[in-house]
Amino acid sequence: MSLLTKEIVLEALGNIMDPDQGKSVVELDMVKGLVVKDGKVAFALEVDAARGQQMEPVRKACEAAVKALPDCSSVTAVLTAHSNSADAPQGGNGQAAPQAPAAVSGVDVFAPGVKQIIAVASGKGGVGKSTLAVNLAYALHAQGKRVGILDADIYGPSLPRMLGSDKLPEVTGSKMNPVAVNGIVAMSIGYLVEEDTAMIWRGPMVMSALEQMLRDVNWGELDILVVDMPPGTGDAQLTMAQRVQLAGAVVVSTPQDIALIDARKGLNMFQKVDVPVLGFVENMSYYICPSCGERAEIFGHGGAETEAKNLGINFLGGVPLDIRIRETSDSGNPITVSDPESPLAQAYMDIASKVIQGLESGDRKAAPKISMS
Ligand SMILES: Nc1ncnc2c1ncn2[C@@H]1O[C@H](COP(=O)(O)OP(=O)(O)OP(=O)(O)O)[C@@H](O)[C@H]1O
Ligand SMILES: [Mg+2]
Repeated sequence: MSLLTKEIVLEALGNIMDPDQGKSVVELDMVKGLVVKDGKVAFALEVDAARGQQMEPVRKACEAAVKALPDCSSVTAVLTAHSNSADAPQGGNGQAAPQAPAAVSGVDVFAPGVKQIIAVASGKGGVGKSTLAVNLAYALHAQGKRVGILDADIYGPSLPRMLGSDKLPEVTGSKMNPVAVNGIVAMSIGYLVEEDTAMIWRGPMVMSALEQMLRDVNWGELDILVVDMPPGTGDAQLTMAQRVQLAGAVVVSTPQDIALIDARKGLNMFQKVDVPVLGFVENMSYYICPSCGERAEIFGHGGAETEAKNLGINFLGGVPLDIRIRETSDSGNPITVSDPESPLAQAYMDIASKVIQGLESGDRKAAPKISMS
């Protein structure tokens, strides 16, 4: 049992000075999202984006000061740049990011060893994006791919819970190692900050945190990086889709009409930023009665498939509404890992095959232009 507490960590950090301002990082309120758990420590240092590079020695000094404490087994400190202007996203090295998204090659700039980045998105929250992203990542891995997963949901990270790992990312040199879980690697802001702290992040910080998770993480050589997108089609999502060169997007919806309208908003977003759509997934598509085995289509199954056809988008498959999917993903033991031979896991395997096919054959459709009126 480690006796390390937040107070002890803050006391140690109180000795680390910001050389420019002559005050400690604690006095300047730069330490954010401090987590101390069983001797493992993680926190972010919030700095002005323009001073990113110059603050790296301070970050290292903070890490060393905490590491030297008795009972400390690991420390992860990340620099989180914040920008004063919401319109001018900053590159993490303190240079202004290129304004034209087309000029940015996300794969080269952010994660050189990653061959393809795909996004799992939806227009509306709570339709099962994270559950799909996690199971899809494992299903892709089961089909021989080297896979990573990035939780882009800065406000409500759910990956640490769904992957069931309480390991913290470790630091080698100036980079963080993603957390390895059951053959895939993962990164989430949830590993670095507490959920309620994440809520206070401002818009521009969200993007710089995401960029940092791509650029300053040792993703290594990956075939596919699955990005679990935050819900909605607002600025954060748009910027994310723009800045990270996505090979394709998987759009999730539930069969209800309203969710389909939201899914169309998701498609529109990708159309705006020229990201091809790999296809639609219908989640909570049908229900198999556990006692009689009868298939019940409580929400009017098939909406997404029909809609996909109408819009000229591929249909990647449906996933049933099943308590085992909820229980396994919410308890950190996804069905594709805990029961890979089950028909439920098979549904994800089928979707993964279609995703691979889409990526390899280039059979991705440009997102259609949809009138929302
Ligand atoms: N096919 C399914 N059958 C049963 N439960 C499911 C299924 N898919 C997802 N769920 C459950 O629905 C809830 C919401 O799913 P999830 O967190 O994946 O949604 P989300 O779209 O990522 O949400 P958010 O928009 O908040 O990020 C979770 O409790 C999850 O376990
Ligand atoms: Mg989610």
